[in-house]
Amino acid sequence: MTAALACSHLTVSYDGNVALNGVSLSVGSGQMIGLVGANGAGKSTLVNAVAGWSRGRPAVSGSVTLDGADISALAAHARAQHGLLLVPEGKNIFAELTVDENLGLVRAPRDVAGRHVFSIADVFNLFPRLTERRTYKGGSLSGGERQMLAVGRALLAAPRVLILDEPSAGLAPRLILDLLERIRSLVDRGLPVLLVEQNVKAALKVVDHLYLLERGRIIAGGPTTVMKSDARIVEAYLGTLAVDRA
Ligand SMILES: Nc1ncnc2c1ncn2[C@@H]1O[C@H](COP(=O)(O)OP(=O)(O)O)[C@@H](O)[C@H]1O
Ligand SMILES: [Mg+2]
Repeated sequence: MTAALACSHLTVSYDGNVALNGVSLSVGSGQMIGLVGANGAGKSTLVNAVAGWSRGRPAVSGSVTLDGADISALAAHARAQHGLLLVPEGKNIFAELTVDENLGLVRAPRDVAGRHVFSIADVFNLFPRLTERRTYKGGSLSGGERQMLAVGRALLAAPRVLILDEPSAGLAPRLILDLLERIRSLVDRGLPVLLVEQNVKAALKVVDHLYLLERGRIIAGGPTTVMKSDARIVEAYLGTLAVDRA
């Protein structure tokens, strides 16, 4: 079956320094794939390269396909128009606009064939908290509410695939699993999701497959059931020395 999203031999370097080294991975339809790794491992570099975004001037090689179509040559905005939606690290909302205005600005494409369509009502059902904040400006929201709003905006654009770069960053530990489980509920309705997550324990509760990135390379990957007991995951992230944050 054709993967919803796949990248093949993706390599990214900044001024000759390789930040991502020949990474290949795929996200099947209705699948949630987790990508974990230490700070600086190259997680954001990977998802940014997949989405065609660049911070600075990276040299990118390799290919990216969306529902089987090669989108490697497309600019970031064109990839988004085709339904590859990345919610980047940090906030991706308008601070001066209210929640309603932030959501109201997103236009779904006319042709939604192959896309996962969500209404504003769907967004409020998924994140009831946002309903209480409709008239609040983006800049006055908590970190968690901003993440919900950023995800809501991506959903309104009718994604084929949703990529989330550390959506739980800055969230109180007790809120992390709740957010990830709400995102999982979208996957259970068919939306493919690639999730970059620093909380490995929480990620393992929601994803189907997990990849471990180290210094720009995938050093381990497989079904969650297997990765839960992978020595590299256990020692670095789940062992007795690891802080239990989930
Ligand atoms: N714009 C840039 N210019 C130069 N180096 C960068 C840039 N962005 C990231 N890097 C380098 O690439 C590596 C991976 O960074 P990043 O993808 O942000 O890691 P992660 O998201 O896993 O924490 C790091 O060594 C970082 O310093
Ligand atoms: Mg990052």
